[in-house]
Amino acid sequence: MKKCIVILFAVFFTSCLLAQNTAQLVVNGYNPQTTISRHIYGHFSEHLGRCIYDGFWVSDTLNVKKQGRIRLDVVDALKKIQVPNLRWPGGCFADEYHWRDGIGPRNQRPYMVNTNWGGVSEDNSFGTHEFLELCSLLNCEPYIAGNVGSGTVEEMAKWVEYLNSDAKSTMTDLRKQNGRNEPWRVKFWGVGNESWGCGGNMTADFYADQYKRYAVYCRNYNNAPLLKIASGANTADYNWTETLMKNVGAGRMWGLTLHYYTLPSGSWVTQGKGSATSFDEKEYFTTMKSCLYMEELVTRHSTIMDKYDPAKKCALVVDEWGVWTDVEPGTNPGFLFQQNSLRDALIAGTTLNIFNNHSDRVRMANLAQTVNVLQSIVLTQGTKMLLTPTYYVFDLYKVHQDAKLLPVNISSPDYVSGNAKIPAVNVSASQDSTGAVHISLVNIDAAKKINIKAALGGINFKNIKGQIITSGKFTDINTFDKPYNVIINAFNGAKKEGNDLLVELPPLSVVMLELK
Ligand code: AHR
Repeated sequence: MKKCIVILFAVFFTSCLLAQNTAQLVVNGYNPQTTISRHIYGHFSEHLGRCIYDGFWVSDTLNVKKQGRIRLDVVDALKKIQVPNLRWPGGCFADEYHWRDGIGPRNQRPYMVNTNWGGVSEDNSFGTHEFLELCSLLNCEPYIAGNVGSGTVEEMAKWVEYLNSDAKSTMTDLRKQNGRNEPWRVKFWGVGNESWGCGGNMTADFYADQYKRYAVYCRNYNNAPLLKIASGANTADYNWTETLMKNVGAGRMWGLTLHYYTLPSGSWVTQGKGSATSFDEKEYFTTMKSCLYMEELVTRHSTIMDKYDPAKKCALVVDEWGVWTDVEPGTNPGFLFQQNSLRDALIAGTTLNIFNNHSDRVRMANLAQTVNVLQSIVLTQGTKMLLTPTYYVFDLYKVHQDAKLLPVNISSPDYVSGNAKIPAVNVSASQDSTGAVHISLVNIDAAKKINIKAALGGINFKNIKGQIITSGKFTDINTFDKPYNVIINAFNGAKKEGNDLLVELPPLSVVMLELK
């Protein structure tokens, strides 16, 4: 009798423990409505540190494959992940940038001091024509941020005319003289950047009026309608979103931005944000918690937008996001050069899942920044180039671009640290135009494997293909000597049971499943 009771208790406690490590997932495949815009998978390239100069745009003498001075190994890597749009020239730099300095013969372009980023000389050798050539090589849409902070309405209006008009004018003659006959027909147009901060320290009311004034003169030329994007809130500044929606209105903005960075230590101090490569589990946990805050931000800003724009015409554009750590020791603090670990891949996978799940409102986003700055997807050193763990997440997730969102519901076990807890697993799902279903799963837990039992409503499939990004430690990185530590591998931990899906999700992993 005693033995039976002991066995019963053992079974009970084992099943409790198992249940703790089990997530229940429901994926709704009936009648999907929302398209996940490919522009959620956008990137950002500022005149900052080694992103443009010594990143995309290198010296004539560097011995790598180039078109002009554009580095083609970087271009090829970005083409592989189908970068849909590239934001330029900033960032804070955009509000000090005068576009006419960056056109015409390169040896006659004026120099300026890049006061925001390290006080270095900017020779303007990379300007409008060079950026648009880069976008054409990448086969992506340009997203240009115009200067509201230190520029004039006339300057911005003339830039749009130079770019997009096919009529005869002094501006279009100048463009032709500089080697470009046809207008580029740039669509995505940012009216300022961080106007609450480096873009002019404005109040929301003042910026709303400025936006309306600048936006009037950013004209729609022949076959070149602009999608105008207003500078939006910093993090949880809900008043900014409310004011812009109320005073400007959805009819005048294609999009309204939100900027949010994940800070490991939660502090903006220059050195003290936390290292990119050396951190313990406590710091790992707080960083992932801070990353998950994006869910609340997107939800609350969207709720305000819904009040003024129930038809969801105006997009929420998260055009700066990612983890921001201390710079690598010995590098220029103004250059924001940081390494990229498995932790960053988990941040990217989690954030992209959040954006996918909110794609009715979030229709564009830009990770900061593409090459050699902040949460980069590519790092370069002389002729060498490496792809970061974050790059591989964009490679895995490209299947979600322009696919139909499948709503998900998950009850996840917690990942616990001290008195704090966060959901261990997050997920998003989509169905592409061929009918294939893709489910992206992230297990943040540093030690526990999570078993997932998924019910798939309205989805019939025969085969499962899996891919995974994982590694032994959250601090694992790719280096120029060992560039393939954290990459994509085949994943065999998913199986079909009836029409359910069972997945064994390893700790610290990003998994993409394809069901056909
Ligand atoms: O991405 C780096 C900087 O962060 C951008 O220039 C600015 O917009 C933000 O504060």
